[in-house]
Amino acid sequence: MAIARVTQKEIEAAVEALRAGDLVAFPTETVYGLGANANNPEAVRKIFALKGRPSSHPVIVHIDDPKYLQRWVQEMPPAAQKLADAFWPGPLTLVLKRGPAVHDVITGGQDTIAVRIPNHPIARQLLNAFGGGIAAPSANRYGHVSPTRTEHVREEFGDDVPVVLDGGDSKIGLESTIVSCVGPEPRLLRPGSITATQLRAVVPNLVVGADPSGPRVPGSALRHYSPTTPLNIVPGRELSKVIQEFASTEAKVAVLGMKPPSIASPFMTWINAGIRPDVYARNLYSNLRTLDKSGARMILVEDVPEGERWDAVRDRLKRAATAENVVTYDHDVAALRADMDEDFT
Ligand code: TXA
Ligand code: MG
Repeated sequence: MAIARVTQKEIEAAVEALRAGDLVAFPTETVYGLGANANNPEAVRKIFALKGRPSSHPVIVHIDDPKYLQRWVQEMPPAAQKLADAFWPGPLTLVLKRGPAVHDVITGGQDTIAVRIPNHPIARQLLNAFGGGIAAPSANRYGHVSPTRTEHVREEFGDDVPVVLDGGDSKIGLESTIVSCVGPEPRLLRPGSITATQLRAVVPNLVVGADPSGPRVPGSALRHYSPTTPLNIVPGRELSKVIQEFASTEAKVAVLGMKPPSIASPFMTWINAGIRPDVYARNLYSNLRTLDKSGARMILVEDVPEGERWDAVRDRLKRAATAENVVTYDHDVAALRADMDEDFT
């Protein structure tokens, strides 16, 4: 995959914008980030304003080198150090105790901070030239699908972001794996391309899932990463039946399948996302955007396999889904059709 090149001039313009307190969208290996100078609370507030994101949802600080950690974190516990040594630069975010000089706008007022050293040449070039921390959530409006190329960033924000650096398609396509290292054992908070097994090879005592007694993890809000069109997850064996039901109402349906279409219908748009979890993940958000624009009344996603290689994809699909539960043919299609009929009237 070609990585678009940015010129030194573009990097300099981006650094100038950051220094002036403006926002810069930039590529990372996971998704595009919407960045601001993490030392400038007014600049970071612009991120929240533009995204429409509640101020209680903390943002990740991106750095280029572990030497900057001391500005942001109080300490690196041994588990965090091991994870950093193993996976940085890379698609891993560590939640740590925040340093004393960190502004509340970064942390949502919590006593922890999320940090990451990304592995993308343009992100690294930008961070290196800037020489500090860049606070950056994914470059999408709150609750929307994350961007994996610059045209997605433009779809989200138009010309409201002064600088957008083009790094081509994101290689991984899903947000970083988040591990909290503030409790008694490391805790996997958000699945990503680095799996629990890979993490456990480094920190065997890793636990998985939000701490029920701990502070809320805002990014785990149930509906997130969503297209505008209602999305439902359907078991593969029921897909054809559900599509046929839809086709019979002459409502357009969009399908994200794992194989070529099993039936043909003029009312159907079908994307075959394949069976490889890394490829599926890389194209997921872009595919959802395409299906979202197809004019369908519903996006049906063929349920992905069990197993941890699919954990991150399954997590994002669940959050993108309209209904909490997988749609099953027998009872739920009737309900879906009732919904649609209501819409028609
Ligand atoms: O791959 C990524 O992580 C991308 C790229 C741009 O680096 N960024 C990203 O940021 O996905 P965002 O803001 O969309 O998601 C950050 C997640 C949120 O779920 C947020 O709640 C969580 O990180 N987070 C940030 N600070 C935290 C903290 N102190 N404790 C727990 N969770 C935190
Ligand atoms: Mg996000």
